[in-house]
Formats: sequence, structure tokens, C-alpha cells
Amino acid sequence: MPAHTEILKAVVPVAGMGTRLLPATKAQPKEMLPVGRKPVVQYVVEELQAAGVEQILFITGHKKAVIEDHFDTDPELVRILSSGGGYAMLEELAYTETETRFYYTRQSVPHGLADAVGHAEKFVASDPFVVALGDTIIKDHAGSSFIQEMIASHLHSGAACTIAVEEVDSEEVYRYGVVKPASGTDLTSDFDVEDLVEKPKPENAPSNLAIAARYVFDPVVFDAIHRTAPDRNGELQLTDSIRLLIQLGHPVRAIRLRPGEKRYDIGNFESYFKAFIDFSIADEKYGYLIRQYLKRKVREF
Ligand code: UTP
Repeated sequence: MPAHTEILKAVVPVAGMGTRLLPATKAQPKEMLPVGRKPVVQYVVEELQAAGVEQILFITGHKKAVIEDHFDTDPELVRILSSGGGYAMLEELAYTETETRFYYTRQSVPHGLADAVGHAEKFVASDPFVVALGDTIIKDHAGSSFIQEMIASHLHSGAACTIAVEEVDSEEVYRYGVVKPASGTDLTSDFDVEDLVEKPKPENAPSNLAIAARYVFDPVVFDAIHRTAPDRNGELQLTDSIRLLIQLGHPVRAIRLRPGEKRYDIGNFESYFKAFIDFSIADEKYGYLIRQYLKRKVREF
């Protein structure tokens, strides 16, 4: 089989319950919560498109059908806006006129991220693919694509899995899955991973490089997912599947977010609020006003 020179498929898991964001997520997906002007999952799709991905499979579940509507064209809305002179608003719908092909499959019970990715086995077939969590935005440098860099690294190294990692404060590692770099590794570029540790205590953490919601996999990951044992909550964890890959002798690598790039995890209120502030103050039209407003508010604290 010829070696792949690009990756055209991606999987976006969006089937989680989002319990940490209740009541906001009682009847709507957390992936549809707005950050600035767009729902979170639209940023995720745009990241994938910027990296050259052409086919995206969403792993959806209960109450997630609006995600399908969001990425579909809406001829009735287009007709109303066109006849009412709402051309500026029509431009906001340009994202639905895309060459990207969207596919949907359901994970009826959210049995964990590895189980969600396992639902993509037929879609992926024998191709390498990207996994991008639907509740996390990676803010790139303007005009460059971090996922594209991950793909290039993955195809060049021949790894079975390439994980995005972000440097976090040492006291914060207990919130994340953390990688253990192979000894003697130069951490300034992509590097070999020896192990992964889920939510370590700061004193036991093998590094402060946290897994950052983007992965590139070869289909061999499905063998590991099939062999992954459920955790004590009955869920299949993707970090356990990646550990299995390592134990089975497959190379797993990591690549760091570059300076100025940032991961925004929308899964809890603290990081959701921070994300909303950052995207609001960067808004082309309203950013200046919001910055002025915040300066006034800060003086009142
Ligand atoms: P989380 O780990 O944040 O889990 O999922 P969650 O269930 O959505 O949220 P809480 O813990 O109840 O608040 C990270 C991403 O993986 C998806 C989620 O939809 C989210 O985009 N996911 C998670 C699945 O698709 N299936 C799962 O079984 C678990």
C-alpha cells in the first residue's frame, strides 16, 4: 500500500453528557454553546478544514441533532434573508456552503471517549485519521494550522498515534491526562511518548505536558480500543487505549502547541467563561467596546 501523504478523514466526538455545564446543557449540546459569535463545534470544523480534512464523522448521541442542522444548508432561511435584503447575515451562513462531507453516527450510551472513537471504525477503514474533541477549540496563529503540523509530523514519523500536548502550570496537572516523554527527549519539537498518566498529583506527574484534545491515529488504534478494559465507571478511556498501543510496541508521539497557540476546553464553566472573554475581546467588531467595558469593570472590583 502506498504511504499516505495527507489525511482526509476526521472524527469529532460530541456524544458526551456535558454534566459539568448543567443546566446550560440540559436540553442542548455543550458543543453548540457559543464562544463569541460561533458555537464551539464550528471552530473545531474550521480547524479541520484548514488542515485539508474533507470528510468529518460526528459521533453524536441524545439531544445532539441540532449539530446536524447547524452544518446543513437551510434553503428557507436563505430565501427569507435574500428577499428581506439581509445580505450581511447571508454571509454568516457561508460556512454551510462547503465541499466538506459530514457524516453522523450515534453513540447511544456515552461509554467513554475510546468507545466513541470505536464507532468510527468502518468510516476510517484503512486510512489514518484525526480525532478532534468537539468541546475544545485550539486557537492557532493566524494563517497557520496546528492540525496540519500534527498530520505532517504523524506521517513523517510513521507513529501509530500523535497526540497534541500543551504546557500547563505544574499545580494544574491533576486536571489533565499528562504524557511521560521518552528519556533524553528534546521537548522543543515532536517527541516519543513512553507513557500517559491520567490526572496525576503534581508531585507524581511525569511532565507538565497535558493532552490537548487533538490526536492523529492509524487504524491500528481500533485493535487497542477493542482490548481496552472499562474503568471503574464502566467507561472506555482513550488514554488507556493509547497506553495499550505503547504496550503493544507501537510508537506513540506527541507534539506541543506552539508559542501563542492555546487550547480552550469548554467542558467546565471556568474555562468556558475564560474562552468567551478571550474571543469577545478579540472580536473584529465588538472587541474594542468589550475591552473598554472590562477595563471599567476591573476598576470597580
Ligand atoms: P468529556 O470528557 O468532557 O465528557 O468529553 P462529557 O461527558 O462530555 O462531559 P461531563 O464530564 O459530563 O461534563 C470530551 C468530548 O468527548 C465527547 C464529548 O461530547 C466531548 O466533546 N464524548 C465523551 C463522547 O463523544 N462520548 C463519550 O462517551 C464521552
